[in-house]
Amino acid sequence: MCGIVGHLGPSQSVEIVLEGLRRLEYRGYDSAGVTFLNQSGKLETHKKTGKIVNLEKALSSVNTDSMVSIGHTRWATHGGVTDFNSHPHSHEHLSMVHNGIIENADSLRDTLQGKGFSFKSETDSEVFLMLVFSLLEKMPLKEAILKGFSQVEGNSAFVFINEKTREIFAIKRAAPLVCGTHHTKSQAVVSSDPYALIGAADRIYFPGDEVLCHLSPANKDLISFYDSEGNPSENYKSQKQEMEYDPSDKGDFEHYMLKEIYEQPGLVRSLCQFYFDGDGKKFLEKVSSLRPNRFHISACGTAFYAGLLVRDFIEGINRIPCVYELGSEFRYRNPILKEGDVGLFISQSGETADTLASQGECKSSSIQTVSLVNVEGSSLYRECDYNLLIRAGVEIGVASTKAFTQMGLTGRLLAHALGEHYGDAHHEKKLIDKFSLLAERIDEVLANVEDIKKIAEEIYNKKGYFFTGRGIYYPIALEGALKLKEIAYVHAEGYAAGELKHGPIALIDEEMVNIAIVGPELKDKTISNIQEIKARKGIIVGIGPNDNSLKKISDYFLELNFEGLDELSPLYVNVVNQLLSYYMAKFKGTDIDKPRNLAKSVTVE
Ligand code: AGP
Repeated sequence: MCGIVGHLGPSQSVEIVLEGLRRLEYRGYDSAGVTFLNQSGKLETHKKTGKIVNLEKALSSVNTDSMVSIGHTRWATHGGVTDFNSHPHSHEHLSMVHNGIIENADSLRDTLQGKGFSFKSETDSEVFLMLVFSLLEKMPLKEAILKGFSQVEGNSAFVFINEKTREIFAIKRAAPLVCGTHHTKSQAVVSSDPYALIGAADRIYFPGDEVLCHLSPANKDLISFYDSEGNPSENYKSQKQEMEYDPSDKGDFEHYMLKEIYEQPGLVRSLCQFYFDGDGKKFLEKVSSLRPNRFHISACGTAFYAGLLVRDFIEGINRIPCVYELGSEFRYRNPILKEGDVGLFISQSGETADTLASQGECKSSSIQTVSLVNVEGSSLYRECDYNLLIRAGVEIGVASTKAFTQMGLTGRLLAHALGEHYGDAHHEKKLIDKFSLLAERIDEVLANVEDIKKIAEEIYNKKGYFFTGRGIYYPIALEGALKLKEIAYVHAEGYAAGELKHGPIALIDEEMVNIAIVGPELKDKTISNIQEIKARKGIIVGIGPNDNSLKKISDYFLELNFEGLDELSPLYVNVVNQLLSYYMAKFKGTDIDKPRNLAKSVTVE
C-alpha cells in the first residue's frame, strides 16, 4: 500500500509531510518523494528509491521552507523501483501522487500519446496526470480532475498540487483517503491514513467515492468538497481527531509495547462507554439487525487468535456456528459460502492484504460482511457492510497487545448485539459490570508485574516454550506463543493442553518451558496434562487459580482470581502472557517495538 501525505499552511509544510510519511513506513515501501512550492514559487520535486532517510539526505542541502507540499511512499506496482517511477509525478505547474491501480492505463496512455503527449515514467499513475493536463486545454483544473477521474477505471486515490494557486485537490474511489484541518494552526492536510494526520489536524474528514476535496488557503474553511458535477457536496463524514500520538511520547515507559499493555484497563472501560452510552450505540444497533445462519471468521496473526475468542463467544452465546480460516488460506480453500452466511473480519490496521482478500471473496459472493477494526476509514472499514470499531487508539508496537484485547471485547459486544437480551437494561448492566471487573483484574496483574518480571528473568534463556491451555484458553496459548516469538525471537508454540501427548511431548526435557494456563473450567484435566510434562522434567510456569495441586507441580506459579469473569477470563490471562513475553524480550535485549523482519501492517499477500 502506498502512503500519501499532503499539507498546506503557514509554514513547515515539508517537515509535516515527512513526519506523516514516516508514520506510514510500517506499510512497507520501496521509494519516497516530496514536491513542494519553493521560495521562488515553483514546484520542486525530490524523490529517491529506498528508505525515507535517502530522501532526507537528498533534501539536507535544499531550502525546504514551504507552505504547500505533497509526499508519497511508493510500493511499486506498474514500473520498476527507480527514481523516475517514484512519486510525485510532475508536469509544468502540476504535481501528483497516487495510491492504487489505473486498470485502463494502457489504453489511456495510447490515446494521449496519439495526441502528442509524452511520459517520463513507466507508471500508470503518470497517465492520470497527463490526462488531466490534456483536459486543461478546455477547462479549469477542478473540472479537469473530475472529468479525468470519470475516465479512470480501478481503485485509486490521487492528490494534486497546483503551483499557480498553492491549492491541493484530492479524489478517490475505493481507496483510503482522509483530509484534515487545524484551525488554530491554519492548516489543511490530506493522507491515505488518519494516523499520519495526528497532531496536524483537529478535525478529520472522510470523503465519499468520487468526491473532490479542495484544500485552499483562499478558503476561510481551508477545505471544501465537490461532487462529480463540480457542485458543492456533503458526501463526507467529519469528526474530531481523537487519536493522540506524539513520536517522542512514551511517557514513563521504555517501549510503546509496555505503554500499550498498561493502556488496556482504560481502553476496556472506554469501549464499554462508547458502545453503551456513546456514538457506538448506533453501530451496535445496526449490526443487531443481522440474522446470520453461520459466520465465516477470517483474519491474520494476533487478529486470527482474537477471532477464535470471538468464535467461542458467538457459538457459546448465540449458538450460531462459526467457521474460521486464516486470511492467507481462506480464498484458496474455495470456501463454501451460502446465502445467509456472514463474513466476520478482524484487523487492527484494516489494511492487511490477506484479510482484505478474504473479505473480497465474501463480498463477490454477495455475503454480508462485518469488521472488527481499529482504523476508521481503513480499506476494511470501507469495504464491509457493518463495522464495529475496536477503539484501541493508535497501536505503535508491532507486536499487538491492546488491539487483541479490544478485538476480543468488541467481538463479545457483537455476540451481545445478536443475542436475545440485546437492549435489555439488566443484561447490559451485567455485561458492563463484567467489563469493569475485567479492567480491575488487569489492573491487578499490572500491579503484580514484579512477580512476572522475576519469572521472566528465570526462564528467558531456555531452549523452547510451550504455551498450553484448554477450551477458551487455547486461543490464549496460541497468542502467547506468537507474542514471545515476535519480540524475543525464541521458538514457542501454542498448544491445546490435551494435545501434547499426541507427539509434541517428545520435545519435553529440562530445558523446555511449559507456560501452563489453567482456568477454573477444565481445571483438573488441564492439571493432568501438566503433570505429564512435569514427569518428563519440563519446567512448569503455572498460571491459574489458587489450587494446591497446581502450585505443587509448578516451578513458578502466578495466582489469578477468575471470580466473576466467566467468558472474559482468557483476556485476563492474556495480559500475564503479554508481560511475560515483554520482560523475556527485554532480558534478551531485542528491539521490542520494531522486531526484526516484521511490519505493523502486512499489506502484501
Ligand atoms: C501481531 O502481534 C502481529 N503484529 C501480526 O500477527 C498482526 O496481528 C497481523 O499481521 C494482523 O494485522 P492486522 O490486525 O492489522 O490485520
